[in-house]
Amino acid sequence: MKQKLAIFLSGSGSNARNICAYFKNHEKIEVALLLSNKENSGAKAIGAEFKIPSYIFTKEQFYSTDEVIFKLAHFQINTVVLAGFLWLIPENLLDKYPNHIINIHPALLPKYGGKGMHGMHVHEAVWQNKETESGITIHLCSKEYDKGEVLFQTSVAIEEGDTPEIIAKKVLALEHEFFPRVIEEYLCVEFDDDLV
Ligand code: GAR
Repeated sequence: MKQKLAIFLSGSGSNARNICAYFKNHEKIEVALLLSNKENSGAKAIGAEFKIPSYIFTKEQFYSTDEVIFKLAHFQINTVVLAGFLWLIPENLLDKYPNHIINIHPALLPKYGGKGMHGMHVHEAVWQNKETESGITIHLCSKEYDKGEVLFQTSVAIEEGDTPEIIAKKVLALEHEFFPRVIEEYLCVEFDDDLV
């Protein structure tokens, strides 16, 4: 049976769309559900495009009920991918998916992580500090923002004259190039281990 991914997103979802496209006809992995805390995120449109169900939930449902967990169980989800999802993951969800919630962060953690550090806020801080490089971190999710085990990092140079918007574009290009492949590698390595 295929590994089933659920993708959580809060924004437009360019990563979610890219991951759906990557795993479209994959032998071992499929995206089975898209979830969002925002009606106007990309979840519904991407779901319609790839014929994947989508589900929008409220803060109350997420933090005070098991409804999201029931939904994941209903779709037999093995792994949760956070692709621009901005809420802290509650303990009941972490407990259901030990080492199986994967997040992407648009900077080289541990720099520029933590509460409030997301999207353009990250790139603006990197720019303000005149960093000469930025990058991406793909990591397992834990109880604190941006603190779990790092699975993968890669960097990109920041040239003189780069604006926060240019940095954002460079970092997003890395995300699109590497996020699906890192998910695939992480899950397929596990498959191979299971077969031993
Ligand atoms: C991505 O750059 C992702 O790294 C970031 O949100 C963006 C979502 O873009 N996540 C965080 O900042 C988490 N702290 P997208 O909606 O186009 O995929």
